[in-house]
Amino acid sequence: MCGIVAIIGKHRVAPLLVDALKRLEYRGYDSAGVATLQDGMLDRRRAEGKLVNLEKVLAENPLGGTIGIGHTRWATHGAPTENNAHPHFCEGVAVVHNGIIENFSEIRDQLTSAGAHFSTETDTEVIAQLLASLLRSGKTPKEAMQATLSSLKGAYALAVLFEGENEQIMGARNGPPLAIGHGDGEMFIGSDAIALSPFTDDITYLEDGDWAILNRDHVEIFNADGNTVQRPRSKASSAYAQVEKGNYRHFMEKEIYEQPEVISHTLTHYIDFATGKVREVSSQLDFADIDSLKIAACGSAYLAGQFGKNWLERYARLPVEIDVASEFRYREMPLPGRQAALFVSQSGETADTLASLRYCKNNGLRIGSIVNVRESTIARESDVVFPTLAGPEIGVASTKALTCQMSVFAALAIGAGRARNTLSEAEEKDMVRSLSEVPRITGSVLHQIQPQLEILSRELSKFHNVLYLGRGNNYTLALEGALKLKEISYIHAEAYAAGELKHGPIALIDENMPVIVIAPHDRHFEKTVSNMQEVAARGGRIIFITDENGARASNLETMATIVLPNVDEFIMPLIFMLPIQLLAYHTAVFMGTDVDQPRNLAKSVTVE
Ligand code: M6R
Repeated sequence: MCGIVAIIGKHRVAPLLVDALKRLEYRGYDSAGVATLQDGMLDRRRAEGKLVNLEKVLAENPLGGTIGIGHTRWATHGAPTENNAHPHFCEGVAVVHNGIIENFSEIRDQLTSAGAHFSTETDTEVIAQLLASLLRSGKTPKEAMQATLSSLKGAYALAVLFEGENEQIMGARNGPPLAIGHGDGEMFIGSDAIALSPFTDDITYLEDGDWAILNRDHVEIFNADGNTVQRPRSKASSAYAQVEKGNYRHFMEKEIYEQPEVISHTLTHYIDFATGKVREVSSQLDFADIDSLKIAACGSAYLAGQFGKNWLERYARLPVEIDVASEFRYREMPLPGRQAALFVSQSGETADTLASLRYCKNNGLRIGSIVNVRESTIARESDVVFPTLAGPEIGVASTKALTCQMSVFAALAIGAGRARNTLSEAEEKDMVRSLSEVPRITGSVLHQIQPQLEILSRELSKFHNVLYLGRGNNYTLALEGALKLKEISYIHAEAYAAGELKHGPIALIDENMPVIVIAPHDRHFEKTVSNMQEVAARGGRIIFITDENGARASNLETMATIVLPNVDEFIMPLIFMLPIQLLAYHTAVFMGTDVDQPRNLAKSVTVE
């Protein structure tokens, strides 16, 4: 949610800020803006809509200066207009902000009673106004910054410029991440290291409550009490520099086709294919010593957890309770006995997931997390980190991150099964062998089914509503299929456990409601085929996603039948994910939506 960047450098900074913002646009793209200091004077350019609009404004009316801040917005308070776009100015103070200031109306009322005039509907403007009022009262920029931060409640990552202070930028973090980049006579601030990858890979992450003063060759970091603190420097992953689309039309398409490779990297981290055994890392959550596991996550990461639950319960006989993190965090559930908790997040910054983690941590549970961004807050606050090796995922719709999360869960299920003695060595070997085939099978399936799905998506794009059905892991796939379709094509899609059809949704079936049924020839097949028959009998149009055995065993008339190879039931969800992703992708492309940056969404949800 919102990306911020700041540079104090040697070159004209506005184009560099825009370059960094392009790498942050996945965080929000309602409006964008940059401000620079030139000869001690502040100036800014802002534009509604995507970054390209800001680029046009800057081309017509360039900004000078070698020090500046930038912002790409996902609106929370106030419409996404140019006037509400950051940076916000007040009497020589410029602020960009990611997060939500929860006590903004209180501060706004106090400042208004003291004579302040607010010109935007944003919560962020109170920060600029508060800083300005403190400077007016005689405080130095440093004193004003510290006093302002101690008045703010809520979540923020900030970058601030002060008129007349050509040699300094201030940054602060409470909640959303903030990275400081060290250059050669230049310093940078970014919402993540990806934004800074064209400039430096030498990164310091601020901790919650930290704030910092940067000049061209130095940064001083303070904690919430104002004491100077040292934070470690680390090398950002070289993968961050390679966030290009290459020959693909969209990041999402590229990320779908990267899956064979990144699933292979991820599996290899957890499994020794030479010996046919899971590595030590797969049992680090002390699976043998717990009686149950809690899982919480959001969106597709939650669905990864659902696959994880199904596998851990089935193969390791470990009871798992899972909830969406936005509910989990407020349930005030008791957490007695021998339990651990596992959180799943691509970004590692999702606010609800992080809050759920902290709830479990405060209740004394051992915390594991499956994360893609290793330097993220969720990773840093976990006792055990299970990384996914998906590389940067830029498309807002999660694809490769999700299948890598599933790969980790598959390995953990084997590790837990071995640790709990519910799987024999031979069973472990069989499951490992099945997993070893996933990269090859995903690669060939992607190429095999793509032409059929491209044609089918043209048909699907004519409908306004779609129903997805499945049982067991196929129900979780159905949920993911519906989420992906809604998210990028804006077609209304719902998923139901096929057994629930008769309990309500069957009333919706007619020729205007395509029903996508996911039913490989597994132990649920016969039951799901009966549900398909009920749909067909009511004039419903069926898109049947099955395997070779399933196609042979059914003679129902369908709108389309997508046939995947027969594979072991354990790895089916990883293979059956592919048609779901391609169907959503091609439908969205055909409908002309903004595939990588769908409306109203952002990649990293760092506010509630
Ligand atoms: O970064 P996270 O994995 O924590 O994000 C969770 C969800 O916001 C994310 O999976 C979202 O549902 C995706 N856009 C789905 O494609």
